[in-house]
Amino acid sequence: MELMCKLLVFITLLLPNSIFSSPECNFPALFNFGDSNSDTGALLSMFGEAAAPPPNGETFFHSPAGRVCDGRLLIDFIAEGLEVPYLSPFLDSMGTNFSHGANYATVGSTIRRQNTTIFQSGYSPISLDTQFAQFSNFLKRSQIIRQKGDVFKNMLPEEYKFSSALYTFDIGQNDLTAGYDLGMSTEQVKVYVPDVISEFTTIIKNVYALGGRAFWIHNTGPVGCLPYIMDTRVITAAQVDNYGCAAPFNDVSRYFNEKLKEAIVQLRKDLHLAAITYVDIYSAKYSLITQSEKLGFGDPFLVCCGHGGRYNFNNAVRCGRMITVNGTKVMIAKSCEDPSSRIIWDGVHFTEAANRWVYSQIADGAYSDPPVPLKMACHRKDDI
Ligand SMILES: *[C@@H]1O[C@H](CO)[C@@H](O)[C@H](O)[C@H]1NC(C)=O
Ligand SMILES: *[C@@H]1O[C@H](CO)[C@@H](O)[C@H](O)[C@H]1NC(C)=O
Ligand SMILES: *[C@@H]1O[C@H](CO)[C@@H](O)[C@H](O)[C@H]1NC(C)=O
Repeated sequence: MELMCKLLVFITLLLPNSIFSSPECNFPALFNFGDSNSDTGALLSMFGEAAAPPPNGETFFHSPAGRVCDGRLLIDFIAEGLEVPYLSPFLDSMGTNFSHGANYATVGSTIRRQNTTIFQSGYSPISLDTQFAQFSNFLKRSQIIRQKGDVFKNMLPEEYKFSSALYTFDIGQNDLTAGYDLGMSTEQVKVYVPDVISEFTTIIKNVYALGGRAFWIHNTGPVGCLPYIMDTRVITAAQVDNYGCAAPFNDVSRYFNEKLKEAIVQLRKDLHLAAITYVDIYSAKYSLITQSEKLGFGDPFLVCCGHGGRYNFNNAVRCGRMITVNGTKVMIAKSCEDPSSRIIWDGVHFTEAANRWVYSQIADGAYSDPPVPLKMACHRKDDI
């Protein structure tokens, strides 16, 4: 009988889907770090409406909502999936409610600090180390301010939520393009990737040191399939892959992802109590692009909100651009008729429909290592 029991336990451990017998995590809060792929309004709070002007937000929020998208981002679908409210940007001073977490992501953020200002290069001053500094400060001060009671108590998280929250990361793409912007070659960009990953690792360790335990880390997407790369860089015919993407840029993304994956294997050894889920966003997005026609999105590169050119994208006339004609303001980079039939929103970011599709692919763990569904991401790889 005892042997039978042991055998059963053994068999259960062998089953890859034994995770489904574990309880759901019931994350009471969500803390996000990232760039424009998950900014819910921080850059707009800092630098004004130009960060995400109309028609951004038109599909779901029906007005600009700080997101560079027609509607919801992947992080919004993640919030819905976890049944927590959409995340307020930490930097927004109006109408925010942090009782279920906060969002530190800003449009243009990088992992490493850049040596340029946003006015020169477009990269945000809120790099990942700064996002962490804000989080650390929030953790401390939120507890002091909650003691004032009333509204403060209802707008800030209880202390226990920090250790049982899900910590999500979606950042790295801008670190890669920043090198190219400085005139570097693909080889030169690759050389500094380990340094970027090392900085990323440091921040994960710092969050862990403050009590964070469940980490959901997105790798970086196929940047070589985005019109803002394909239309502004020199790409030879030989560098275009079978689906029309710029191969060297995707190679760099995959190199970054490979190094990130290796770093996470090491992090699992170093941080014994951490549950770290690596999510292969690259493959989910690439799969969407390569199946675009079949999935009803038509030309995968055709930009919904833009102005002219091969992809309906002009880097100098980005989505929402207004000009004055005879004293009247007119939008010359307008939204397309039906954003839900396009993958690319503005040449750089995905539409809500594309984000929803990516969410539907990653939520059950199919693209994750370990293959845990979102709601189970508090379970450690060793325990499943
Ligand atoms: C910024 O400049 C310093 C000093 O030259 C250099 O070490 C660092 O790599 C630069 N950072 C980036 C992101 O280029
Ligand atoms: C903040 O959001 C939570 C959850 O939705 C809610 O219970 C709380 O009342 C809100 N606080 C304020 C001040 O609106
Ligand atoms: C601007 O006004 C002039 C003079 O009325 C007119 O000839 C021209 O067509 C107008 N331009 C546009 C773009 O409407």
